Amino acid sequence: AESMSFYDAVGGSEAFERLVHRFYQGVKDDPLLRPLYPEEDLTGAEERLRMFLVQYWGGPTTYGEQRGHPRLRMRHAPFVIGEPERDAWLRHMRDAVDSLELPDDLSAKLWTYLQYAAHSLVNA
Ligand code: HEM
Repeated sequence: AESMSFYDAVGGSEAFERLVHRFYQGVKDDPLLRPLYPEEDLTGAEERLRMFLVQYWGGPTTYGEQRGHPRLRMRHAPFVIGEPERDAWLRHMRDAVDSLELPDDLSAKLWTYLQYAAHSLVNA
């Protein structure tokens, strides 16, 4: 239906759980990215990214209830994000998006957004 959110179209919470889980499996062993994450355990980071993406794409607004306004530029300011970090982030995310095996139009829509967002967070 026309009113269906992107969140519904990709299959709801399960798709976002799979996406971020696969993404952090990559981050966990990445020598460039892993040191940026302040917490020993990546579970919290995985949860925050998942809740944010779910909210962004029209699912439950738990992210906002728990974290407030996303302010992503500000929240990334403590981390040095140059082009190498951005490209590593996008490489793991590309793999994660592919793993969902979404229809091409949905996959392209998600990927276009993630690329745009990653480019906007480069701060070094
Ligand atoms: C948090 C790195 C791009 C969304 C974080 C954290 C790091 C990080 C180190 C802290 C982890 C934590 O929450 O404990 C990066 C790097 C990026 C990048 C290197 C490369 C460009 C993005 C993009 C998005 C995003 C493109 C959104 C589409 C988030 C969110 C949080 C977060 C929602 C948690 C914010 C909060 O509520 O505290 N990121 N990030 N990040 N990142 Fe990124």
